[in-house]
Amino acid sequence: MNATASGPVNVRTVTRVTRGQAASDGAGVRLTRIIGGPGLPQVDPFLLLDEFRSDTPGDYIGGFPDHPHRGFETVTYMLAGRMRHADNQGNAGLLTPGSVQWMTAGRGLIHSEMPEQEDGLLWGFQLWVNLPAADKMTAPRYQDIAPDAIPEVTIADDVVVRVLAGSVAGVTGPVSGIATRPVYLDIHLPAGASTALPLAGDLSAFCYLYAGSASVGQAAASRVLDRGELGLLGPGDTFCAAALNQPARLILVAGLALHEPIARYGPFVMNTREEIIAAVEDFNAGRF
Ligand code: FE2
Repeated sequence: MNATASGPVNVRTVTRVTRGQAASDGAGVRLTRIIGGPGLPQVDPFLLLDEFRSDTPGDYIGGFPDHPHRGFETVTYMLAGRMRHADNQGNAGLLTPGSVQWMTAGRGLIHSEMPEQEDGLLWGFQLWVNLPAADKMTAPRYQDIAPDAIPEVTIADDVVVRVLAGSVAGVTGPVSGIATRPVYLDIHLPAGASTALPLAGDLSAFCYLYAGSASVGQAAASRVLDRGELGLLGPGDTFCAAALNQPARLILVAGLALHEPIARYGPFVMNTREEIIAAVEDFNAGRF
């Protein structure tokens, strides 16, 4: 893709680099909290990003037994391993490698997310996407997308982009109807390859290197990100990345900031304290 073909571009630069922190959630699942911890509480509209990655069963076998959500969306993208989900409204399914589940919790549900394996590698991400105030009490909705329903686009330099959400080179990802207009790309750069992708200028954006190292941004103003590093991206209409002498893999995530007040209490994310109290009361009274 030649982003310069249509005229001058404004390449997004990395404005901040952060690393996640080791955390434990669910029934003792060890993970890395990249967004949602004290170091980076949020990237509006994104409330949380966890990477779980272990081939030690004790790190993940407890899974995430029944727990509620209200007021936002959880997005699970599996790289390796299998996870079974089931909720209190009769929805259930199996997440396999390369699949994505975009769950709009809306007014609320109670679900479990449990590893469907007793050994081997479990690797993936969970992203929390905020809902606008007007949609926080919407009916729950699932978009369960199988690996082969996610388009893979090969662009210049043999760069492969899996398009979970958003569009690349005229190919649009399967996730639809989300208020924050999300972009979620899984980008695979061969050693030495570089790429330039258009990215709507009104979206807040970050990238996260999950394999190898890549230089992100425009030549002189670029920053090298290593595995485990998140780069917050500044204003601009183009994302540029180049792998060094090893293949690199990263996710590029963008969405429309909501600029609304956030009241957050565990698995409930609302706009006011009163709405949080109502969520706790509804949950305790069995109204989820
Ligand atoms: Fe959950």
